[in-house]
Amino acid sequence: MPSDASAPEASAATEQDSSAARQAETPAEKQADASAVRQAETPAEKQADAGAARQAEIRAWNEAEKSSAGQAETRAAGGPESSAVSEPETSAASEGERSASTSAQSSGGAMESSAAHRVEPTDAGHASVLLEAVLDWLQPRGNVGFRAVDATLGSGGHSFGLLERSSPDGQLVGLDADAAAIERTRLRLQPFAGRFTLIQRNFRHLDELELEPVDAIVFDLGLSSVQLDASGRGFSFRYEESLDMRFDSDSGGPTAADLLNGLPEAELERIFRDYGEERKSRRLAHMIARRRNNTAYHHTQELVETVIQALGPQRGRIHPATRAFQALRIAVNDELSALEKGLDAAVRLLRPGGRIAVISFHSLEDRIVKWRFRGWADDGLLQVLTRRPQQPDEEEVERNPRARSAKLRVAERVAA
Ligand SMILES: C[S@@+](CC[C@H](N)C(=O)[O-])C[C@H]1O[C@@H](n2cnc3c(N)ncnc32)[C@H](O)[C@@H]1O
Repeated sequence: MPSDASAPEASAATEQDSSAARQAETPAEKQADASAVRQAETPAEKQADAGAARQAEIRAWNEAEKSSAGQAETRAAGGPESSAVSEPETSAASEGERSASTSAQSSGGAMESSAAHRVEPTDAGHASVLLEAVLDWLQPRGNVGFRAVDATLGSGGHSFGLLERSSPDGQLVGLDADAAAIERTRLRLQPFAGRFTLIQRNFRHLDELELEPVDAIVFDLGLSSVQLDASGRGFSFRYEESLDMRFDSDSGGPTAADLLNGLPEAELERIFRDYGEERKSRRLAHMIARRRNNTAYHHTQELVETVIQALGPQRGRIHPATRAFQALRIAVNDELSALEKGLDAAVRLLRPGGRIAVISFHSLEDRIVKWRFRGWADDGLLQVLTRRPQQPDEEEVERNPRARSAKLRVAERVAA
């Protein structure tokens, strides 16, 4: 683990100012230096600093790995049996469910883990899905040089559990494309300062980090309740926000408004059909194309209006705009291709005996995971541990309705 990152002040600082913070002596000096740099540096300089700091952190992380090599040989074997199992089915987590999960979480207490350690499901606005199952499968443990990657940090629920159960020495790299998630969760993980490195990065670029092999990798796909909850980026049809929907607003990629205003009608239809499983995708795409001839889309409620015109008002439990918003988000972030690239990098990053756990909420995602795992199993690279995807039990779904469509698949790297 990078020694500088072990200082709480440095860990709590943004990536841009963390390199300056390292030079300072006292916390007050560190803060003064960091804010001076914030004012003095140009954005390009800040980015260069952040890149250098990140590289230093990763180098240190890899060094720590090399020095702990050998300890890791004592890893325990075995894991839980895949219990609640069902064939994958086409399903899309409804936004209503996700919102409910936030309130379920905030009214819930701490959850006891099956091991002696207590795991906080989250105190950061997002109830982690299948938390206990993921921890049981990934087998975090202390004093063996355990190293993990959380490819979708979010509010850090899975990271928290991995770090807690691998105390006192387990290490973790957490990625999230969303800068706000990184900053929020950096604070939450402070009890483990010195044992984690957080990096704002799309997991499609995981291989560019050139990490040393790890024991565990988790992907918990999609978006968090915090992002749905008035993030200002238009993920939710419930608020009047800009139609952005990018996990990383600085990515320079197209926004949801760009897609709505610029894509051919047939492509919009495909997106709503394939990613939203919207039965009336053609009608919806047509009405969008008609409207944008007169008025471009900028805000969420403009899209909600068109959806209701095309599909009719809400009748059941699910708001008619749920699927359209989900579909656009998947397209904006190119989520399926990111998943393919992220999985490819992840499986190469696992050391023999290392495990990968993927939680998906969409049938297309689950299919990608299933077929990639099968392919690697056929090549003798992985052993699939969940013959069918594991799903949350009734108690979890009751407590966290967002978990309802979750599917967890786990595999273990068997060959070098
Ligand atoms: C469901 S949340 C993760 C919640 C987390 N496991 C927890 O327990 O708090 C998914 C997170 O992954 C991030 N994300 C989604 N796709 C990503 C990608 N391709 N690269 C990096 N982060 C991504 C989102 O920004 C979001 O914060």
